[in-house]
Amino acid sequence: MMEIQSFDGVGLLRELLPILLAALAALVAAKLFVAPRKADQAHRAPRQAIQTDLKLAGPDVPTLTFFGDQLKRFEDEVRRIYAVNHDKPPFGRGMKNLNGPVPPCDVKESIRQMRAACADLQEPVTGGWRLHEPLDDIFYTRFLTAVDFHQARALQLIRNYVKFRREMRGGTPPDYSWLKAGLGIVPFEDVMGRPIIVARAKYFDSQISAETFRSFYRGMVDSIIAHLLMKRRPQLSDTNPFEQYVLVLDVLGATRRNFSMTAIQVMIHESNNYYPDRVAQIFVLGVNLAVRSLWSLVSPMVMPRTRKKTELIKEADVPNLMRQLVGHEKLPEEYGGSAPRLPSPAQAKTLSDMAGPIPADIWEKLGAVRMLEEKTAMASKICVAWDMPPYGFRQMSSFKLWLHSRGESTAITRTITDCADFLTDLQQSADLKKLNLDLPKRDEGYSPSGWLSTCCSIRPLTDEEWKARQATRQPEVFARSLGKILAESQGAASRAVLDFVSGSGPYGIPRRLD
Ligand SMILES: *[C@@H]1O[C@H](CO)[C@@H](O)[C@H](O)[C@H]1NC(C)=O
Repeated sequence: MMEIQSFDGVGLLRELLPILLAALAALVAAKLFVAPRKADQAHRAPRQAIQTDLKLAGPDVPTLTFFGDQLKRFEDEVRRIYAVNHDKPPFGRGMKNLNGPVPPCDVKESIRQMRAACADLQEPVTGGWRLHEPLDDIFYTRFLTAVDFHQARALQLIRNYVKFRREMRGGTPPDYSWLKAGLGIVPFEDVMGRPIIVARAKYFDSQISAETFRSFYRGMVDSIIAHLLMKRRPQLSDTNPFEQYVLVLDVLGATRRNFSMTAIQVMIHESNNYYPDRVAQIFVLGVNLAVRSLWSLVSPMVMPRTRKKTELIKEADVPNLMRQLVGHEKLPEEYGGSAPRLPSPAQAKTLSDMAGPIPADIWEKLGAVRMLEEKTAMASKICVAWDMPPYGFRQMSSFKLWLHSRGESTAITRTITDCADFLTDLQQSADLKKLNLDLPKRDEGYSPSGWLSTCCSIRPLTDEEWKARQATRQPEVFARSLGKILAESQGAASRAVLDFVSGSGPYGIPRRLD
């Protein structure tokens, strides 16, 4: 038989209370005791917090929805592009012979249906930067043409695309793994205002990993998308209505050993899924028999319209084509123009050399250059040494600072006083109150000038100033302090350190000695 015992709750509580209180006190004590140790661990394994968002569209980018006459004009362009007809001035002669595929349905009606079907996918307009291009008539139609106006398939692709952008938190930022290889460069737009990716096959490594090539492809096309969005006007563009780019694949000087099936497969997969109908035309320059046989291998894998977009150009015909496409003045010498040659990967020093001025410029505007530098600085390190002039006094009054990744030849010189002032500024900025500078041990060297200025200062030093002076007593100590700030702080402080070391931004100009 079960007996339910009733008990006196209050009495029990009274009995338990002292035990509970003791336990609580122990917990608090443990917490107090443990907390500093946790913080200590955090020091040893610094967060690798790097901002990685690359928003593709500014708050002002116009959404293009067409009505009436504009919609009629847009429909004509859609028909031309769907037919893969490039005979439009100034690149073409405008012969108006449409002998390509014809949309199997009413284009205007298709667009209207997409507008309704995608209403729930729109990014909320918050006046901020956006993860991707606006979902508008141009956007819908690129997806529609790529799948022959098959509504359900286009919609599925669009849903996938929006999901992809949300997961990526925008676009793919540049990375030195492919920038250094010089796989592709966007030096200019063509006469139709379409950016040109020049890919030089002789720099291709047939062993390239799918991951690196994917990052390269996304990074380059995303920079082009952002560039085209930034220059977008509120009307339909006359020469580049689909906001497309042109691929120039230069196979001159390349051999079979530069051919990568992996790269081709990645490119086909990426363009079918995330970048449908972004490429307007593909020119393969310097085609010989070997290339023709490779093309016969690849062409069955690509969509019929992509096949139609591709032209194989013999070496002798390259200058004519390229002059027609770009114009004589912008065109580099090697393609028959009068502009300087494109830098080889070995010659490339700046981002503009590595990827071309169009991506370099847009990455600067989107903050991606900073991200790249932060990532590089984390991976490499900050170097500090005494600045010892080859002749003159060994004053030990200034440091040379540089990023290891960039090399000592890029070092800039700063006086120790400037370095100490910089640290003082950083500590005083609100978000960095708790900044722990790496202070030297008692016997870890000293700087005469630092010591002197400490003695000679008229007013007593603040706590921050004292720490800053200590942290700049030795190059090694200062380097550790900067490295620590870089590793432990995000945003403003890291940026300030990079500016200070690389001589750019607000800390760009080293203060004069006077
Ligand atoms: C391209 O192929 C040539 C051999 O034909 C080779 O010497 C070169 O290293 C290849 N390029 C790359 C980046 O692998």
